[in-house]
Amino acid sequence: MTELLQMPRGTRDILPVEIRLWQFIEETVVRIFELYNYSEIRTPIFEHTDLFTQSLGHTSDIVEKEMYTFNDRKGRSLTLRPEGTASVVRSYLEHSIHKNEALTKVYYRGPMFRYERPQAGRFRQFHQIGVECLGSRNPILDAEMIGLGVHLFDEIGLTELKVMLNSVGCNICRPVIREQLREFIGDNLKHLCEDCNRRFTNNPLRILDCKKPTCQKYTMGIPMFSICQDCGDHFNAVQEYLDAMNITFVVDNHLVRGLEYYTKTTFEIVSPDLGAQNAICGGGRYDKLVQMMGGPDIPAVGFAFGLERAAMLLQQLGIQGKNPPALTLYVAPQGHLATLQGMELLDDFRRANLRADIDVSGRSLKNQLKAANKLGAEYVLIIGEDEAEQKVGLLKNMANGQQQTLAFSDVLNHFFLGTETVQPIQPNQLVLRGMEEVL
Ligand code: HAM
Repeated sequence: MTELLQMPRGTRDILPVEIRLWQFIEETVVRIFELYNYSEIRTPIFEHTDLFTQSLGHTSDIVEKEMYTFNDRKGRSLTLRPEGTASVVRSYLEHSIHKNEALTKVYYRGPMFRYERPQAGRFRQFHQIGVECLGSRNPILDAEMIGLGVHLFDEIGLTELKVMLNSVGCNICRPVIREQLREFIGDNLKHLCEDCNRRFTNNPLRILDCKKPTCQKYTMGIPMFSICQDCGDHFNAVQEYLDAMNITFVVDNHLVRGLEYYTKTTFEIVSPDLGAQNAICGGGRYDKLVQMMGGPDIPAVGFAFGLERAAMLLQQLGIQGKNPPALTLYVAPQGHLATLQGMELLDDFRRANLRADIDVSGRSLKNQLKAANKLGAEYVLIIGEDEAEQKVGLLKNMANGQQQTLAFSDVLNHFFLGTETVQPIQPNQLVLRGMEEVL
């Protein structure tokens, strides 16, 4: 026998039982983004590999070891997108959006791909919702971005989150910060892991991001970075705006982020209930990325959050998402003619925006009623063979067991106009052949 195939490691199915929660998150978040004047953008799931190698940084974990890269049939190197910011900037430049808009505010959602070691809250295919605001250096936008994150998590019911904030400086002060860090580590370098030893030369800031306890031991207590006057003023202004917006935050100078395009502000929104992968959301300012990708000098700021992690936290709180609208009608037909007529009625119901379904199993009425009950149907329309000929059905209220016979032409009206406006046919006029014992 053929062995059942399983989903690839690091991926997961989001089954209908869970999807309500995802839809609830997505609908809420989209509503909030629109309130902040953001519009949706959709970019391809795969891009030219160069897009990511040029923008995310050669020493980032993503570029070094996590990209899903393949050659297409013409030998072009393509990569499944590991994040959304690079694609947004590519699209922004490719369509010259910057020439028509002084400030561009977009959001996106969809699957991202990183070849990471799977664990709780960490997948190889995961889903992000992100926002990017391109065109302004104003620190108000950094604060508004963080406020937007806090607002949307509040709206979905995640209120116990913490905002972590830092400034990683700019191209001018970054070399000073790097030197400051190398000096701080000094002779302790030999105690750090192999990756951190490599980072010490290439990109020492990433050492602060290392999750290994030994490395963390030797970077604990590092003084605040010596950022330049401009970055310092910007950082102070962001904090002032956050205070004015009553957003509590913690300044954490270990928050350097894994992607190399950040300048000035970096932030994460974290939850202690997520375990090792505690960041639900991460972002910051990237004032040099547009230029690095061949565009003009346009600053930007943004963030993205992980849907798997948001769903995980909501599940821990027992939040299930919206229930689907009730199944108003379940048609239980007996025989071919009854099924045909039931189908016609169903169509009327669905076009009238009522959720309705039909039993197609051909099983006994008793079992069809059982199925209706399991589906939570409010009403069942029983159509026996004789009723089908007379174009009537028996409408059963599943909550109180009451039933009445209605002409097909009156069934839909019954739901809109109420019982008194239609003329039910008297049950004694009908022969419900073979159904007496279940009705
Ligand atoms: P990131 O921190 O790499 O930033 O990812 C943002 C969020 O995506 C994380 O906080 C986490 O919730 C989720 N995430 C990341 N990797 C995984 C994974 N392997 N499994 C599950 N969830 C994951 C970015 O991607 C930047 N593009 C954010 C940004 C936008 N910065 C500026 N604009």
